[in-house]
Amino acid sequence: MPAILEVDNLVKKFGEFEAVKGVSFQVEEGEVFGLLGPNGAGKTTTISMLTGILAPTAGTARIGGYDVRTQMAQAKTLNGLVPQDLALYPTLSARANLEFFGRVYGLKGRDLKERVADVLRVVSLTERADQAIETFSGGMKRRVNIAAGLVHQPRLLFLDEPTVGVDPQSRNHIFESVLRLNRERGMSIIYTSHYMEEVELLCSRAAIIDEGRIIALDTIKNLIAMLGGGVIHVGVERADPTTRDAIAALPMVKEAVLLAPSVAAPPAPGAEADLHERAPLATGSVIKIVTEHSQQAVVSVIGYLNTHDIMLTSLEILEPNLESVFLHLTGKKLRD
Ligand SMILES: Nc1ncnc2c1ncn2[C@@H]1O[C@H](COP(=O)(O)OP(=O)(O)OP(=O)(O)O)[C@@H](O)[C@H]1O
Ligand SMILES: [Mg+2]
Repeated sequence: MPAILEVDNLVKKFGEFEAVKGVSFQVEEGEVFGLLGPNGAGKTTTISMLTGILAPTAGTARIGGYDVRTQMAQAKTLNGLVPQDLALYPTLSARANLEFFGRVYGLKGRDLKERVADVLRVVSLTERADQAIETFSGGMKRRVNIAAGLVHQPRLLFLDEPTVGVDPQSRNHIFESVLRLNRERGMSIIYTSHYMEEVELLCSRAAIIDEGRIIALDTIKNLIAMLGGGVIHVGVERADPTTRDAIAALPMVKEAVLLAPSVAAPPAPGAEADLHERAPLATGSVIKIVTEHSQQAVVSVIGYLNTHDIMLTSLEILEPNLESVFLHLTGKKLRD
């Protein structure tokens, strides 16, 4: 497959401040590619250079072979942008807004009507199409925004944090639209987010970006495998800081943290017998253990609990995720 997007050492300076510090990556045709990074990482600035909103300070990129510095008009016919901020006319209906965007791309007449009807279906808003945008929920407005990026049938779609401030229902609609556009129409998608679960769910590969640099780029699976270890949650009847410190010092354990005791749910009326069974839960503790190798850490933790007569009440081995990869690479959390 040829690359639909080739980014080559892209730099953006705002005065003295270098927001993007030489970013390079390629996206294959038909891929859903994630750009994952915290606030201020440079995601929007990068996308803005790829879509003609900002001129690169240095470096370049090609979309379908067209250079974004010298052939932006051609590049624009291939790509669609769904910006982080909404760009809709509140008093106009969803349909009228979308017709406006279609005309900007030179669509008219029956073609325009058909394209607008199609993108309304893609974001599941056909039924609300003729109501004014100002009567829509935040999530519905976002979906119209996505539809606006699709009217001219781009081969490459940039989605910049499409689910921020969106209700769960609209969020699911957005996920479904992304997957459908990719699977049914073969659209290549660049998905920007600081929600690692979304990138894990939707993308085949991702670049982790921090302070203007790509610090890791691989398939989601390889990014996670890079970590080796993971996190285990061990429920115990009792735990105190001494136990925690002893566990933290065990082989294959990097860190141990006492989580707040779990609170038993109140018993249903007439179910007093259950109360006795739930009681240990209310007093027990959960120790969160960050490991270098989860299987081996479990063995040493259980050994320690046995020799110290601490009863194990639950054990959960959590799969490592992109959040832990980011923490590992930067020492920072993805979200504050
Ligand atoms: N027009 C501008 N002038 C000066 N600095 C800017 C400008 N636009 C962005 N920046 C700075 O560049 C850096 C990268 O910003 P950018 O918007 O690309 O981050 P982001 O990764 O999209 O973050 P978020 O997740 O918050 O949207 C930030 O420090 C930001 O303050
Ligand atoms: Mg942004």
